[in-house]
Amino acid sequence: MKRKNKFAALTLTASLMLSGVVMMPADFSGPATAEAAKPGNPAAFDKKVTARIDERRIYEDVRRLSVDIGPRVAGTEEERVAAGMIRERLQSYGYEIDVQEFAIPDTMVGHLSTSGGEEVTVSIPSGSASTPPDGLTAPLYDAGLGYPEDFTEAAAGKIALIQRGEIGFRDKIDHAAAAGASAVLIYDNSEQSGPPNMSIGTDAPIPVAGIKKVSGEALLEDIAATGGSVTLKVDALSGRTSQNIIAKRTPKKGTNHEIVYVSAHFDSVPLAPGANDNASGTATALEIARVLKSYPIDKEVRFVFVGAEEIGLLGSEHYVSTLSGQELSRSLTNFNMDMVGTGWENATAIYLNTVDGLPNLSTESAMAAGERIGTPSELVLYKRGSSDHVSFHEAGIPAVNFIRREPGTAALEPYYHSPEDTIDHISIGRLKEAGDLVGSAVYSVIRSN
Ligand code: BES
Ligand code: ZN
Repeated sequence: MKRKNKFAALTLTASLMLSGVVMMPADFSGPATAEAAKPGNPAAFDKKVTARIDERRIYEDVRRLSVDIGPRVAGTEEERVAAGMIRERLQSYGYEIDVQEFAIPDTMVGHLSTSGGEEVTVSIPSGSASTPPDGLTAPLYDAGLGYPEDFTEAAAGKIALIQRGEIGFRDKIDHAAAAGASAVLIYDNSEQSGPPNMSIGTDAPIPVAGIKKVSGEALLEDIAATGGSVTLKVDALSGRTSQNIIAKRTPKKGTNHEIVYVSAHFDSVPLAPGANDNASGTATALEIARVLKSYPIDKEVRFVFVGAEEIGLLGSEHYVSTLSGQELSRSLTNFNMDMVGTGWENATAIYLNTVDGLPNLSTESAMAAGERIGTPSELVLYKRGSSDHVSFHEAGIPAVNFIRREPGTAALEPYYHSPEDTIDHISIGRLKEAGDLVGSAVYSVIRSN
């Protein structure tokens, strides 16, 4: 297909969308394995991508990141190891590499043990106060749901054990502090595989830890009821850094080309192997970089692998802040992948999230590519932030995030941000689908012939 036709395809898609034509197949009820392929008519340039995207390579990289390395929390050694793996791979493909190191805020880490010698897994929210270096040892106080009336004078000096629910985390914490409690343990109100990751705001007056429902119930029975004590240790890790790895390729002729960005975050939340969130997007972007490493292009392409997404999009914010005015004016669009590989059977749709809910060059080229190659899944344009496309959008660069969700409800997989986000819940077929769709869309924009 010649360039003229390439853009004609985009315009056609745009007009279909504006006229409200639904571009997705009606069948989105079937399980993952039964996603019916749309009739496609791939262009020769699509086949140059789809014939080479190798889902086993993507899957192997998901395994390296989520199994061999494991949780890749911002600022940890594991995040650094993941960055190193990504850098070496991109170097081996012949890209020009930039490594950006940037400071991240102090992170809180915790440790909880009982007087009976048992260890309890905790999650410390950012904003928690620290304990003395040796920790804080005190009896537990059962403070119910943490309403003001749940606290008596007996709470003073004790560690308040509060159940999640009904009122906000910060209210519970403030009520405990007002009653003189020395720290707060909040236990979940539903069975989750890990302790809750809580948002509590900044500068909590006392140390705070989240624990699982079963742990809270066990502490109530074994410790609070028997007069035992617990030791809670909360430390701030300071002076930490995270990294972005950027691989760049420019056309052979000319200067000042337009720039297309493909991005994915490689960090994870604590305790989560992050197979889907976001080894899936990272590994898929690496495979697209491999396939596109030597095809002729007429635009500059940058693969931007960012750290510290999970603590507030810090890597991508840092990256766009380093772009010069000249680079910003050359910036055409961003394709971000985050959670593209889940095998959760209800996630039969690929959502194209934009910050404003409107189509842009990335969504249009992806919709058009999906039609041509016959992407099996329904593609849904949707208004949603929560990933690195937000940073590109805020820098004035049109951006999309690709993510698998349940059509209709827009629900995310149940393993999200939990220790269950493992390779066992990854679908190799869906990794291939993401690689084909995003790879074809990117190539349709940057190709020169
Ligand atoms: N991959 C997730 C979630 C997500 C949800 C991405 C919807 C794209 C669309 C992402 O890593 C995440 O957890 N984001 C945080 C927000 C971020 C600013 C820390 C979230 O949604 O809570
Ligand atoms: Zn994510």
